[in-house]
Amino acid sequence: MTQKLNALSADFLPAIEDEMRSVLGATEQASSATDPFQGMIHYHMGWADEQLNPVTIKSGKRIRPLLLLLASSAAGGDWQQAVPAAAAVEIIHNFSLVHDDIQDNSPTRRGRATLWTLWGQPQAINTGDAMFAMAHLALNRLVDRGVPADIAVQALRRFDEMCVDLTRGQYNDMSFETRDGVAVDEYLAMISGKTAALIALCTELGALVAGADETRVQHFAEFGRNLGLAFQIQDDILGIWGDESVTGKSVATDIVTRKKTLPVLYALARSDDLQALYEGNGEDGEFVRRVVTLLDETGARRYAVDEAKRYSDGAIDSLSAAQPSGPAAEALFQLTDTLLRRDF
Ligand code: IPE
Ligand code: IPE
Ligand code: MG
Ligand code: MG
Repeated sequence: MTQKLNALSADFLPAIEDEMRSVLGATEQASSATDPFQGMIHYHMGWADEQLNPVTIKSGKRIRPLLLLLASSAAGGDWQQAVPAAAAVEIIHNFSLVHDDIQDNSPTRRGRATLWTLWGQPQAINTGDAMFAMAHLALNRLVDRGVPADIAVQALRRFDEMCVDLTRGQYNDMSFETRDGVAVDEYLAMISGKTAALIALCTELGALVAGADETRVQHFAEFGRNLGLAFQIQDDILGIWGDESVTGKSVATDIVTRKKTLPVLYALARSDDLQALYEGNGEDGEFVRRVVTLLDETGARRYAVDEAKRYSDGAIDSLSAAQPSGPAAEALFQLTDTLLRRDF
């Protein structure tokens, strides 16, 4: 079922990893332990342990750079030319996670202690800042691979516009924690920013670097946007009903911080008991269990699963409109299907 995706991933993933290591100073010559500034980045990326000694841990699904390279190939481009953009989107994603874990008070990510719990919030903020700048340096390498300068400049502008959308989404996500009566439309605008903007940019940049015309680039972007919305709704579901040992993230965090995730919004509108619980200051295991029971009783999980499926179907429609070609086209359909079923 996922043969094309697996075959292409086997080519793409090592190229993405090499490019990111080069940009982030994690080549064989560089030592994470003797340069703790870079070492903290390498810890987060899964290339160093807590003592900053080299390790190789499967750290993150790398779906954003994969999507970018698959979109580029399916739009008729040479995927090798797009590798700097793939490295850039994965580094900016990791920047956002380093800051997000501070913002969300999250102790674990990818089954390991978060950067801020090990080195403190001030150093973790600074590490994230460095990664933000390095993501831009990665994108600047497009011209070294022969991408025309006007396309590279356009890519850089879209990248920065996406960063503004992402941080606006994070602003809304955090401000909703202490707000009642968040509407589903407001939630959708919030996740469009914090998650779908970056995933849409991946498929957009893939097509742009491939030299696709504007209409086709927009179909690819729309594919990524729908996929990103489905992806975040699935993340909301896993944040409540997922298995911590599989997701690598604490399941209680979203509930304790009163995140207005889609299942929670659905249930809040239908359960006075849940509203009362969310207005109180409960945060222990018993509080979390009572919240999950009420979510289950209102059918919030089923609703969220159906909504994720709806956006995933929308993604399939937009992808078809983009008229992707070659083995990467099939792999993109396979990846869309796989992401909807993911449990991590
Ligand atoms: C986590 O993204 C943050 C969200 C936008 C939901 P991923 O689930 O892609 O995280 P990694 O990179 O695979 O760990
Ligand atoms: C995802 O945030 C979006 C960004 C990190 C920008 P979440 O807070 O929903 O994701 P997880 O669950 O911590 O990975
Ligand atoms: Mg968050
Ligand atoms: Mg978070």
